[in-house]
Amino acid sequence: MPKNIAVYPGTFDPPTFGHINIIERGLKVFDEIVIAVAGDTMKDTLFTPEERVEMLKEIFKDKERVKVESFKGLLANYVMSIKAKVILRGLRTVIDFEYELQMALANKKLYPELETVFMMTEEYLSYFSSSLIKEIGKLGGRLTGMIPALVEKRLHDKLSKSK
Ligand code: COA
Repeated sequence: MPKNIAVYPGTFDPPTFGHINIIERGLKVFDEIVIAVAGDTMKDTLFTPEERVEMLKEIFKDKERVKVESFKGLLANYVMSIKAKVILRGLRTVIDFEYELQMALANKKLYPELETVFMMTEEYLSYFSSSLIKEIGKLGGRLTGMIPALVEKRLHDKLSKSK
C-alpha cells in the first residue's frame, strides 16, 4: 500500500512546542510527515533555512517517520514533486481561519488532488508564535515550556551575536 504522507510546511523561525505538538499528533494519522521549511519567505528571518532544518532534524532525530526538507517556490509544486497529496496545518484561533482557507483553496486550485488537513492547536499552545518567542528571547524573558532547550540555546547564541 502507498504511504500516507503529509507535508507540514512553515517558516519555523524558530520551531516551537506548538509546531512539535501538531507533528506528534499528526504521526497518529499519517505514516510519514515531511516538515517543509520555507526557504524563500517574505518574513525577515533570524535563522537561515539550513539552521531551521538543522534544528528540526535534531528535535526529531529519534522519529523515523519524520523527514525534514527545505523548499523554494510554490508549496503546492513541492508537495506534488515528492508525490504527497496532503498538507497538514495547525489552526490556533479563529484569526488563522481566513488565511488558512485562502491558502487551502489556492493550493487546491493549483492541484485539485491536493487536500489540506487541519488540526486544532492545543489550547495551552494557541497563543504562541515564532515572533513572540523571538521577542521574549530578545528582551531576556524565560522561554521554558515554549521551545525545546536546543532551540533556546541556538536562539540565545544568535541573539548575542546580533547585538
Ligand atoms: N503553534 C504555535 N505557533 C504556530 C503554530 C502552532 N501549531 N503554527 C504556526 N504557528 C506560528 C508560526 O510560528 C508563525 O509565527 P510567526 O508569524 O511569528 O513567524 C505563525 O504562527 C504563522 O505560521 P504559518 O501560518 O505556518 O506561517 P509560516 O510563515 O510559518 O508558513 C507558509 C507559511 C510557508 C506555509 C506559506 O507562506 C507558503 O506556503 N509559502 C510558500 C509559497 C506559496 O506556495 N505561496 C502560496 C500559498 S497558497
